Amino acid sequence: MRVDGSDRGMLRGVTILINPWADPDQWIGAFSELLPNEELEVWPDCSNPEAVEMLIAWRMKRSDLATFTNLDTIFSMGAGVDQWLREGSPDVRLVRLADPAMAGEMAAYALHWVSHYQRAFGQRYDPASLDTWGINTAPVAREYTVGLLGFGQIGRRIGAAFNDLGYEVNAWSRGGTDDDWVTSFAGLDELEAFLGSCDAVVNVLPNTAETAGLLTAERFAQFKAGATFVNIGRGTVVSDETELVASLDAGHLGAAVLDVTNPEPPLADAPVLHHPKIRVTPHISGMTQMATAAELIAENIQRIRRGEAPFPTVDRGAGY
Ligand code: GLV
Repeated sequence: MRVDGSDRGMLRGVTILINPWADPDQWIGAFSELLPNEELEVWPDCSNPEAVEMLIAWRMKRSDLATFTNLDTIFSMGAGVDQWLREGSPDVRLVRLADPAMAGEMAAYALHWVSHYQRAFGQRYDPASLDTWGINTAPVAREYTVGLLGFGQIGRRIGAAFNDLGYEVNAWSRGGTDDDWVTSFAGLDELEAFLGSCDAVVNVLPNTAETAGLLTAERFAQFKAGATFVNIGRGTVVSDETELVASLDAGHLGAAVLDVTNPEPPLADAPVLHHPKIRVTPHISGMTQMATAAELIAENIQRIRRGEAPFPTVDRGAGY
């Protein structure tokens, strides 16, 4: 039975359940302050699973989710939602976290690594080259094209950061974009042209049926020679990491930076962890930040209480 507002009084228990992966006391403190009129519980405390109407969580076991028989909305505590779209997950309204603070961190991460390889900051200064002190051989920003593979809220934020510093910005997405500060590429027909036009490609695509395995050996061959590949979306976009490694070994791709891997986490002996041209970071390019995330989720809960729709809601068909 699904209850609407008028029936809800009959169900005793707390309607909003929070399941943070860490710092439960801080999260409940933040939400209690922002939502003083709501009763909240932090998992695994749950006085009545049937009364749970809204769930705020990063992920949760399907067997536990099945006990929330009147669940209406899930708020993902991260930007990605693929963990909520697996078979057996409840088919309820799903709200993504679109936090500008997180997107800003991801932009800083991308700027760091792209400029690291663009300007060869990783090389030790060679004392034998003192006669060339002060000579720059790296391309400057306006001669360097950064491509965003995925151009939603996060891709735009990252693209804007590069654009602001004078880089050429290309963007690839399913439908393209009209923004006049980017060169837009749309759909699979234009993916080859996009890949071939970028000195660095930053992937921010979500994991969906359409993006999983998108970057095959054939696609890596379409990257510009010497390009840098930065993956801060989902590891599954790389069809097989040995193909990425092969492209680097063959001297085609110049470098790769992986904040996400396939599988994730990687096995201890995964080649990507030991390759001199690959940098791996442990899925930390943009973290959920309690202060801003709690505020955005609380605003959405207030919207729902006023009878308005929360946003951004996930299009289950599209997978994000
Ligand atoms: C992290 O990957 C997130 O989806 O927030």
